[in-house]
Amino acid sequence: MTMDEQRRGAAPSRQAAGDGAPQGGRGAGAPAGDPVLLASGLSRRFGGLAAVADVDLALALHEIHAVIGTNGAGKSTLINLLSGELAPSGGQIRLHGEDVTGWPQPRLARAGVGRSYQRNNVFGPLTVRENCRLAAQSRAQRAWRLWESATGCRTARALGDEAMERAGLADSAHLPAMALSHGQKRQLEVAMCLATQPVVLLLDEPLAGMGQDESARMLALLRELKEGHAILLVEHDMDAVFAVADRITVMVNGAVIASDTPSSIRANREVQMAYLGEEDDAGVPLQQPERVQAAPGAGRAERAA
Ligand SMILES: Nc1ncnc2c1ncn2[C@@H]1O[C@H](COP(=O)(O)OP(=O)(O)O)[C@@H](O)[C@H]1O
Ligand SMILES: [Mg+2]
Repeated sequence: MTMDEQRRGAAPSRQAAGDGAPQGGRGAGAPAGDPVLLASGLSRRFGGLAAVADVDLALALHEIHAVIGTNGAGKSTLINLLSGELAPSGGQIRLHGEDVTGWPQPRLARAGVGRSYQRNNVFGPLTVRENCRLAAQSRAQRAWRLWESATGCRTARALGDEAMERAGLADSAHLPAMALSHGQKRQLEVAMCLATQPVVLLLDEPLAGMGQDESARMLALLRELKEGHAILLVEHDMDAVFAVADRITVMVNGAVIASDTPSSIRANREVQMAYLGEEDDAGVPLQQPERVQAAPGAGRAERAA
């Protein structure tokens, strides 16, 4: 399979993925498919603080891989590393088997790694359609090549509109982004991410602040999107995580304490102690992460190099 086919989201065949394909660890926490994005021993320090410590993570097509953990566990930092917004202090990131460690965000975005932000990152005065087209254009990088502008803009327009429709925002195309509800702004974030034609979607709390209906719509969209994408979902809403995730990785103080199927994670004693808390009769965690306090400083302090 060519890199272009992979970027368009085609699933690699077992045969085609033979030689040279990334060989992820296939432990209990490894995905069933071949990993698209593979992080090994990924670390990031801020002074003496190990915000991300020796993390192994594999994202595969057709899978939603949720990363959960208390506030400050390192989830957003992990996304910043995988999207190229932060350089790692150690470890390796491979995309389709290629070593992309240290690639800056624009280069990784062009290679197919898209992300949404924990806080809304849309252009308020611009319309929904304009926001999506701009995002598409940022990937096309044709804005300044005047002799190609007609074709380039048409492509960006088509890609932007397609992403907008996919995210369920066609009816709001002409509204300025600032007029959208909170939930619609989160949808627009995802639409803008889609407009850049990613294969990997890194989503930082896409359900934050959403009402029940908005959350249900977003979850339906994520289920649909996983068919063509490898999705990393950072989310605090445990009902949503357990409803939609194919795999769950649990972070505590920058490190992964477990990575497995939702049912195994739910049954994992260490995870229950560190994060999920007691369960009700149906096995649903009673303790929400916002209410769980990490042991102060436990495992965090590292001697500054
Ligand atoms: N740019 C930064 N400089 C210093 N410390 C940071 C920076 N970004 C994050 N941190 C720290 O790293 C830890 C992990 O943060 P973060 O990744 O945002 O956690 P989460 O998303 O799981 O809530 C926190 O202790 C946070 O204060
Ligand atoms: Mg965060």
